[in-house]
Amino acid sequence: MNKTCKELSKQYQFEIAAANFYVMLENWFLVNSLHGFSKWAKQEAKEELHHAKVIAHYLGRLGELIEDTKPIEAEVEGKDIVRVIQEALQLEQEYLQTYNDMWFIAQEEKDVPAMELIGWFADVQRKSVNFLRCLVNKLDKCGSEYGAILQLDSEIA
Ligand SMILES: [Fe+2]
Ligand SMILES: [Fe+2]
Repeated sequence: MNKTCKELSKQYQFEIAAANFYVMLENWFLVNSLHGFSKWAKQEAKEELHHAKVIAHYLGRLGELIEDTKPIEAEVEGKDIVRVIQEALQLEQEYLQTYNDMWFIAQEEKDVPAMELIGWFADVQRKSVNFLRCLVNKLDKCGSEYGAILQLDSEIA
């Protein structure tokens, strides 16, 4: 297994953790009667699981087994929506950094197919980061106005 595949294998666990994180968000939003946000989180969870599957498929086609690392634990901390969304932003930013770093590892190994795959992932991450940054901004402006948050909730679904 080259270094790039090792990194992808590690990232598989992080994608699973992200799926778990968004499932927990889906639940958290439902508990807080924010059904639009809940629907959004559900869709995100589906996408994260898809990302994990893409990595598993890619490595499998190369004859590489995903290394049996410990699953990463996901946690939803905080009790207000701004903090919850900020945590999602932080997670997506971390993953963006990971994929950017990974791209250079693949480049060093002249692993062109991996560079393409990782480039696609980095692009997905950038979009998530931009979306969440915008959401954090909007939530900042909503402040503690419940009506404004409900308005956002109906827009996001
Ligand atoms: Fe992902
Ligand atoms: Fe993501």
